[in-house]
Amino acid sequence: MSSPSSYPKGLAFSDALMREVRQRFLGIERDHHGRERLYFDNAGGSFRLKAAVERFAQVDAIPDNAERIHAAAVELQHIQARGSDDLRTILNARGGSVYASLTASGAMFDMVRAIAENVPGTNMVTTVLEHPSAFDAMSLYAERLGRELRVARSNPATGGVDVDEIVRLVDQGTCLLNVIYASNISGAKLDMEAIVRRARAINPELYILVDAVQHAPHGLIDLQKTPVDGINLAPYKFFGCRGSGFAWLSERAAVLPHHKLAAKKSDYWDLGSSAPWQFAVLTEIVDYVCWLGGHFTGAADRRALFAAGITHIELHERALLSVLLDGTAQVPGLRAMDGVNVFLDHDDLTRRDLILGIGFDRIDCTQAVVEYAKRGVTVYERVATSLYSRRMLASFGLAGTVRVSPLHCNSVADMEQFLRITREIASEHR
Ligand SMILES: Cc1ncc(COP(=O)(O)O)c(C=O)c1O
Repeated sequence: MSSPSSYPKGLAFSDALMREVRQRFLGIERDHHGRERLYFDNAGGSFRLKAAVERFAQVDAIPDNAERIHAAAVELQHIQARGSDDLRTILNARGGSVYASLTASGAMFDMVRAIAENVPGTNMVTTVLEHPSAFDAMSLYAERLGRELRVARSNPATGGVDVDEIVRLVDQGTCLLNVIYASNISGAKLDMEAIVRRARAINPELYILVDAVQHAPHGLIDLQKTPVDGINLAPYKFFGCRGSGFAWLSERAAVLPHHKLAAKKSDYWDLGSSAPWQFAVLTEIVDYVCWLGGHFTGAADRRALFAAGITHIELHERALLSVLLDGTAQVPGLRAMDGVNVFLDHDDLTRRDLILGIGFDRIDCTQAVVEYAKRGVTVYERVATSLYSRRMLASFGLAGTVRVSPLHCNSVADMEQFLRITREIASEHR
């Protein structure tokens, strides 16, 4: 298996593998009405695996209640157990609890609440780049419980948050640190290994929560190297289906008092009837990434296959990012394009997920999104008036960006097409 750091400009899939990958997804070349389009808003909802959508329908068509003795119920229980194991495969987690909720936001609020209400301390630490689901949960419970909320600043040079900046806020009084794995605005990855190690060196009892919604579909997560107390992801941004969010909790976090039926075990987090399709879809996601991994490793172990698959997704996406920034022999990249600005453009692509913020000299982001849409390209603006991006953009001194978020099932040719369209928009608005 390739090491991600040995390819600073990434490593694209072979043409043959690219074709196979694309066949496994819906809507890559045409939308659901059959219209040609380039869909580059995967950070808002990713391309769906055909197998995930089919499995969702199959499993949800079974009316049986999983809490019965019948064969169908036992089958559903197996689906749930397999899906729970597969969340652990994605994270390299051992033990702990799996919590299936309707959204990643819901899971994050619940985890923050359990820790904030039950772990003593005088302050809580987070970063300015958090999604509102983590930031607002931290603010709400800090205020309700009379704790100081400390917020680490971003670094406009990297688009991320420096380890030193986070660690300087942690002390003996900190009960909870909540950090995003990678920014869904800039794509910058935070150095989670160093954050966890250094923060726990200051306060060994510290509880740590991580929002991996943005990062999980783009790179390897290894909780054996970054032991945290809770981490969430969203299958609908991870080639799966909407209406589902997953979290994993460490053993000590799982048993903190939380909303649950009194008779359930102390580490049980699902509230009400869980939906077996959520677990089935997660298994389809892991099956797919393992299938991909099988092209790069001879290992039989599911985690090893998953690790190889997600690592090559990361490398292919890095190659696409490099093409977007620096172009190819056919078309210049965004960095060299007149009238186009690339924001938060950190040189080290190994520190970035495939998400890009750009702007135009002569048109604003909202107009740019319309111009792209006219040409069959779906991208989205992240503007300072949106509750989902105001705080992060302000921290970088930006009014807005056009967020460009393709996926590994896109090809180099898709990037070139996007670059040509971008050049056309820029030259028509001089
Ligand atoms: C980084 C990040 N965290 C959390 C969320 C919330 O996910 P959900 O919509 O499942 O609540 C999102 C969704 O946009 C996100 O991008």
